[in-house]
Amino acid sequence: MIETDIVRSAARVVESLSGPVIALEGVDKVFANGMRGLDPIDLRIAPREFVSLIGPSGCGKSTLLKLIANLIEPTGGRVQWWGEDFRSVGIAGRRLAFVFQDPTLMPWARIAENVGLPLELAGVPSVEIARRVDGALEHVGLTPFRRHYPRQLSGGMRMRASIARALVTNPDVLLMDEPFGALDEFTRNKLDADLLQLSFERHLTTVFVTHSLYEAVFLSTRIVVMASGPGRIFREFMVDEPEPRTEEFRTSTRFAEQCRALSQILTQAAQASGILGETA
Ligand SMILES: Nc1ncnc2c1ncn2[C@@H]1O[C@H](COP(=O)(O)OP(=O)(O)OP(=O)(O)O)[C@@H](O)[C@H]1O
Ligand SMILES: [Mg+2]
Repeated sequence: MIETDIVRSAARVVESLSGPVIALEGVDKVFANGMRGLDPIDLRIAPREFVSLIGPSGCGKSTLLKLIANLIEPTGGRVQWWGEDFRSVGIAGRRLAFVFQDPTLMPWARIAENVGLPLELAGVPSVEIARRVDGALEHVGLTPFRRHYPRQLSGGMRMRASIARALVTNPDVLLMDEPFGALDEFTRNKLDADLLQLSFERHLTTVFVTHSLYEAVFLSTRIVVMASGPGRIFREFMVDEPEPRTEEFRTSTRFAEQCRALSQILTQAAQASGILGETA
């Protein structure tokens, strides 16, 4: 526990020196059809934090992630990356990778070509592409499958390829929208553990959307619980466990206790969203 406090105070010191990686101030979203997707959101994410977004379906998790990534425009407020407007930063585009729920691989291209696509598009020389693709495939354990086509891989392996494609650009920030939602529990647990190791080794700042409270507790330093009607931040939950985490955490009473506490907050969030028929 003391170690966790040290890590957190270190993160706070880093933030006070360099500022947050991502800062949202009063960011809201009203869609073109007039529907209010998100009430104003204030959120600051410090370097090397692993933040999960969790909450009932339709509460705006994907919308919030897309706003962070500048894939959609906020109606009001501002999104800052390293203290600057996303577009004026410019470099942000190169330091950020987005992983969707669907691996979105090109079916006609081999795994190595799929992974190298972002570098190909950026005009990186082919020798350099080959070197970085090899490194990224090695990282996710897909080296023997570099010449396979996506259809020859299992769902978990395709997701690994999608993560390799995200890592090949050497991002500082990884944004992931339910990346492992469609996988069986065993594969998901394995990929969760691999992702934690990658984030730790590469000093990544990660924002991760999930519906699984177990996954959120295992992975995150902080969990942002959202509610709907309209979408908003309901509560934040700090996970009290030092990093790097091990599989032992998953079977510990510390894990069970924090899952129980988060489950209660999720029930309250569902009630506040009008989903369970009473308000918290
Ligand atoms: N382009 C759009 N136009 C209108 N409404 C939209 C649009 N995109 C999303 N919405 C609505 O905004 C709300 C939030 O959607 P969003 O996809 O962010 O939810 P979510 O929390 O990611 O849900 P899920 O857990 O099911 O993925 C939903 O009610 C959705 O129908
Ligand atoms: Mg979503």
